[in-house]
Amino acid sequence: MPVTIAVPKGRLGDEAYALLKETGIVQKDIPKDSRKLILRVGEGIDVILLRAWDVPTYVESGTADIGICGRDDCLEHDADVLMLYDLGFGECSMAVAAPGSVTCEELFSRSYLKVATKYPNIAGKFFSSISVQAEIIKLYGSVELAAVTGMSDCIVDIVSTGQTLKENGLCVIETLFRSSAGLIANRASFYRNPAFMNSLTSAIAARLKK
Ligand code: PRP
Repeated sequence: MPVTIAVPKGRLGDEAYALLKETGIVQKDIPKDSRKLILRVGEGIDVILLRAWDVPTYVESGTADIGICGRDDCLEHDADVLMLYDLGFGECSMAVAAPGSVTCEELFSRSYLKVATKYPNIAGKFFSSISVQAEIIKLYGSVELAAVTGMSDCIVDIVSTGQTLKENGLCVIETLFRSSAGLIANRASFYRNPAFMNSLTSAIAARLKK
């Protein structure tokens, strides 16, 4: 049975795929204009291409044996997967942000907040941990817009360069955690094939240390 690796589309995925190729485990490039979602890319190695936030779901179910995604994606899905290696790239933080005029004390002392986010579980858990009643507004992109227009009091979102916040007059109120890309594995797949998993992890670690 081939080993299936879940690789996200986009910048994180491009970097991850290049790394997999450098290890020699993946041998073929993804054809540029291809819309194929499953590709045979090496001896007994298949790659499936998907959105980063869906990677934990495929790995947890065992449809993919291994995956690459952000720590944020794993935490949002509360996925029962093994974290094999922190790849270090794709660094960002998960933060609460609000218009520049709002202070941390003022925001968190309110008894009720409207919070826009692509990460409803992470946001919900955070506000419940500080005993603030939060109405979570689930969005799929341009989350900052919700706080700029006043649809929400604040947002919980990824901050990478901070440029989107800056250009839209928002500030970080609290950083919840740091995130970067990680190599994750399905638990059963790992115990079925530990030699392969360990050699892949070592090959990746060796490439990253160069
Ligand atoms: C992410 C994130 C922020 C932005 C932060 O959005 O949700 O909006 O990047 O990056 P910055 O700190 O470097 O400005 P993404 O670009 O993935 O697209 P989206 O707005 O459609 O969700």
